[in-house]
Amino acid sequence: MNAHLAPGSFTGTSPAWLDVPDDVNALVPRLWSQTARKDAGVLHIGGLAIPDLVASVNTPTYVLDEDDFRARARAFKEAFGDRHGYDVYYAGKAFLCTELARWVQQEGLCLDVCSNGELTVALRAGVEPERIGYHGNNKTLTELRRAIVEGVGRIIVDSFDEVDRVIAVAGETGLPARVMVRVTAGVEAHTHEYIATAHEDQKFGLSISSNDAFEAVRRLAAAPGVDLRGLHSHIGSQIFDSAGFEVAARRVLALHARVRDELGVELPELDLGGGFGIAYTTQDDPSSPSALAEDLTAIVEHECRALDLAVPHLSIEPGRAIVGPSMCTVYTVGTVKEVALDGGVSRTYVSVDGGMSDNIRTALYDADYSATLAGRASDAAPVLGRVVGKHCEAGDIVVKHEFLPGDIHPGDLLAVPGTGAYCRSMASNYNHALRPPVVAVKDGQPRVLVRRETEDDLLATDLG
Ligand code: LLP
Repeated sequence: MNAHLAPGSFTGTSPAWLDVPDDVNALVPRLWSQTARKDAGVLHIGGLAIPDLVASVNTPTYVLDEDDFRARARAFKEAFGDRHGYDVYYAGKAFLCTELARWVQQEGLCLDVCSNGELTVALRAGVEPERIGYHGNNKTLTELRRAIVEGVGRIIVDSFDEVDRVIAVAGETGLPARVMVRVTAGVEAHTHEYIATAHEDQKFGLSISSNDAFEAVRRLAAAPGVDLRGLHSHIGSQIFDSAGFEVAARRVLALHARVRDELGVELPELDLGGGFGIAYTTQDDPSSPSALAEDLTAIVEHECRALDLAVPHLSIEPGRAIVGPSMCTVYTVGTVKEVALDGGVSRTYVSVDGGMSDNIRTALYDADYSATLAGRASDAAPVLGRVVGKHCEAGDIVVKHEFLPGDIHPGDLLAVPGTGAYCRSMASNYNHALRPPVVAVKDGQPRVLVRRETEDDLLATDLG
């Protein structure tokens, strides 16, 4: 019965936000990178037809639109940096490889790393150490020593143990430890909502309300060899409105003012973190970098005026909002199965040659994604589909709900947009899957930035 749906007629098991498309072949532009288009149903990115790309790199593959990535990075740099004087740190946890780290640097952004491994990639790429920020809630003495010896621009201290460690390393090496203190403002924001109380029960940061944040600042400000740059607040992920930032800024700047009044120290910097949302499906409507920059700057200026504080040097750390829409994942359909649901409707399960090993976000966060045919046009009526992987697990779902052409069949190419952030970077070898390559496309040319894993890679650490 699915195969006979008319636009707007569907009443089956699909979420309220998902409309039956007028044209199941059409791209929804805000879900895709800027060079994505369809020509007679064939998806092109970076001037390259996806079937031609697949002929050389196979599927599954991540396709990274270089111009789009650079444009988004530049948009943040222009809106926040050029217009309002912020430093923009690209959050490498979203996705990082050496070439992309070079693009980040070429576009005038700094880089946020949160592990020893990410620091290695950044340094190997030639990123200037003073343009690197180093996060993490459990940095060892060895890791902190390395960061300080390499001259990392700022280390974001997350606990009293780390306070002690950076003071020790600064003393031992005689090198300056440039640090910020990660504070929890009691705000946690996700997607369309934020909650302004009781969200200090998590592992990151030092609490403002319990006085821990002030105490960490007091110790660091008094320590020889430590250059205390300021406070850092990151309130959550996939945020669409600025209300959470406003509450956090008020509390963080009140701490700035207290530090000035009680310690006589003017903290020069403030980082507002990342978390800016992107469109994964038609239900999401993100702000532009310039609107975000205006909002956040107005919030900080307003709070500073109220506290009679000079506006500190500001920074942000977007990851998802830069790399998320720049990448899509291309799969080959392997099997198609129509499953009857209650109420006389059915769902079409479309199995692809990847799954939760290349995109864990659906299983882990109940995330929504979209999908479209990438290799041909179809004039078949849409059916309610679910894109699933090939792993040995019922929760191995890539796209929970999407209308797909009713004639979708094995061998079709399917593309899922918005997979640039936290997909390759969180990919696994579950079921001994080989992690897919990341192929950059630009001006009709592909370039493999990260190659596909091989079975030899899988066995390389197996000493049996
Ligand atoms: N700065 C800090 C201190 C962070 O902890 C994060 C993300 C960011 C910046 C970048 O946030 P973004 O702009 O990319 O939202 N794996 C999850 C997201 C975890 C984010 C962790 N921290 C996901 O796939 O949604």
